[in-house]
Amino acid sequence: MAEAQLADSLYIVNDFGLQHFQKQLFETDEGKSVALSYFRKRGLREETIRAFGLGYAPDERDLLLRKAKSAGHNLELLKKVGLCSQDGSRDFFRARVMFAIHNLSGKVAAFAGRTMSSEKTVPKYINSPETEIYVKNKILYGAFQAKKAIRQLDECLLVEGYMDVISLYQAGIENVVASSGTSLTEGQLQLIRRNTSNLKILYDGDPAGIKAALRGLDLALEQDLNVKICLLPDGHDPDSYVQEFGGEQFLKYTTENAKDFIFFKTDLLLEETKGDPIKRQVW
Ligand code: UTP
Ligand code: MN
Repeated sequence: MAEAQLADSLYIVNDFGLQHFQKQLFETDEGKSVALSYFRKRGLREETIRAFGLGYAPDERDLLLRKAKSAGHNLELLKKVGLCSQDGSRDFFRARVMFAIHNLSGKVAAFAGRTMSSEKTVPKYINSPETEIYVKNKILYGAFQAKKAIRQLDECLLVEGYMDVISLYQAGIENVVASSGTSLTEGQLQLIRRNTSNLKILYDGDPAGIKAALRGLDLALEQDLNVKICLLPDGHDPDSYVQEFGGEQFLKYTTENAKDFIFFKTDLLLEETKGDPIKRQVW
């Protein structure tokens, strides 16, 4: 199959997946009582849920598979995009709320599914595999929805998670994308650079968040981006902060607390070497 043709057919299967997950969310009793209420509890409004292609995969063995087959979709393509298991016997996403991952033109490239259980043994998010249409290090979550605002405001906010993007967008802060768990890649930075040269990295204030921020930094500088970093107050991520305090307060906080990367790095190193004259000399 020619490359473009294969890509097209993968998008078609994913679009079927999207329709299916949305139907399960909005049009079934279980979807409404389990998943829609989960999203509402997390503060999302219906228009936001629709704008981001959120959905629901019920806890059933092969619901999507059966529907896809009877709609005439090819099993090999379903396997390829990761909507079912490799042996073709089960749905891949089960008992999860679903997030569509769009490419820049708004086509569904992949999905992420979040468990609603707080059971520690269940992985919180699972993702579609990489395919011709889902090259992880070249996709930024939210970029399709954020593109216009990033250009208009000439600034891109970078957060870590799906929910961070969605909650900020809903609060009117639309110039926001996520690296989705992975550390920032060169391809992702190039994508940002094409739309603005101003990047503000918003990460959790925990040590892991700080490390992640630093990793992104050096790469960003190589791309000639002006980088600011803002850590959120302890225990908050952008989603929890904006849901609790609102968009205006979020903008106020991030404007007041964003540091130019150089100061950020210096402060961090000073903090690390506090009371340790030997380490301090090295720096
Ligand atoms: P977090 O664990 O901080 O989740 O992971 P979150 O975004 O705050 O999600 P909520 O608010 O609990 O729903 C940050 C990001 O890392 C990726 C996801 O993209 C997530 O949004 N991640 C996290 C995974 O891909 N898999 C995981 O198991 C956990
Ligand atoms: Mn969160």
